[in-house]
Amino acid sequence: MDKFVIRGGAPLSGSVNVTGAKNATLELMPAALLAPGVFRLRNTPNIRDVWTMSRLMSSMGAHAELNDNELFLDTTNIPRQEAPYEHVKRMRASIHVLGPLLARYGYAKVSLPGGCAWGPRPVDFHLKGLERLGAEITLEGGYIIARAERLKGARVSFDFASVGATFNVMAAATLARGRTVITNAAMEPEVTAAGRFLQKMGAQIEGLGTSTITIDGVDDLKPVDEETIPDRIEAATLLIAVAITGGRANVCKTNPYHLAFVLEKLEEAGCEIDIRADVITLKAPEKLAPVGITTAVYPGFPTDVQAQWMALMACADGTSTVTDTVYRDRFSHVPELARLGCDIHVNDNTATIRGGGKLTGATVMSTDLRASVSMVLAGLVADGETEVLRVYHLDRGYEGLEHKLTALGADIRREKTEEM
Ligand code: EPZ
Repeated sequence: MDKFVIRGGAPLSGSVNVTGAKNATLELMPAALLAPGVFRLRNTPNIRDVWTMSRLMSSMGAHAELNDNELFLDTTNIPRQEAPYEHVKRMRASIHVLGPLLARYGYAKVSLPGGCAWGPRPVDFHLKGLERLGAEITLEGGYIIARAERLKGARVSFDFASVGATFNVMAAATLARGRTVITNAAMEPEVTAAGRFLQKMGAQIEGLGTSTITIDGVDDLKPVDEETIPDRIEAATLLIAVAITGGRANVCKTNPYHLAFVLEKLEEAGCEIDIRADVITLKAPEKLAPVGITTAVYPGFPTDVQAQWMALMACADGTSTVTDTVYRDRFSHVPELARLGCDIHVNDNTATIRGGGKLTGATVMSTDLRASVSMVLAGLVADGETEVLRVYHLDRGYEGLEHKLTALGADIRREKTEEM
């Protein structure tokens, strides 16, 4: 198990490149199951979740190889339309293979992610959506068993604009007979990127980026090459690292349009933001102003930046609140941030952060990918040394984070620990 050792205090400066989007890649890879052949996905992040998805797809019969951020994917033969628990338990996004397998083979056996279909982190929207397309779905021994002679287009509406469920239904609908109209579809850039990828493969899709997506089924799709969009959550995380340390730096290879809400909140907090093409330059203020946020589906403030924002507000000059409406319980980072001296109180799905206090280094850890990175951010500004344990959680979604922060002048290093 590795840990990060951070000495706080250095204002960040210089330039850093953002890597390809984890959550787009975790849709593009399963989407490739819809067509036999060889795909090349450029700008693929070299992160644990991509390795996990590669292992899962290889266990089905695909061939996946990642070299220098280019992913080679051969989906010619997929003899095993199954996603076993040993893979799915590591990553909820494994559920994204369900729609593509069902559409191409008429069968899929996919382990339920932790919990049950209707329990914590449920998948009921995925299952109901696929049933609307004519799938027969049963739950047996912790597995989803889905069957369909041939899926039929249908109207599918989501009670909540679920990213994963929108992907699964959109992907499955590309090979269904007839028209599917998804209402209250997710509009996240990663879903739009997956839709554009499917269009390149020959799918007939309209309405990408809006809450109504229309898919006219075709008989088959073909393999293509694609360049993955930049990771907007990593970009937001790096911008907040510059803001929290009182620095000035360039975050490059971004898509600023995917960050509009976050950039506006950073300006409200007093940061100067300058955008030139794919480069976002942030100059931190002397004092950060307290700015409350409420997370929402895209284009609202992303829940995946909520923990990072909380660390920033712990350093602001006043009190602010953070409310998460997407995951009402996503606050595992609060007790750990408190160990660093952050003054935060949670009531239901709202945290109140009293800023301005002194942060001092401590040993902390988290189980949530984004919670872990909020501790790194607090460690960058805390007095003394902070140790963030179990950074494999971070390695799931951030490629070489310590190298990127070091390039910006942070004092951070990775160390092996004997901790199991
Ligand atoms: C995606 O997860 C992302 N993961 C998450 O990022 C992100 O936090 C989330 O979207 C919200 O933006 C990937 O793209 C791989 P949802 P997903 O379905 O698709 C409830 C990260 O850190 N829900 O939009 O699983 C659910 O419980 C990860 O990169 C149901 O009730 O999210 C949650 O409250 C963390 N039933 C809400 O909807 C369902 O069938 C949003 O979930 C599905 C979801």
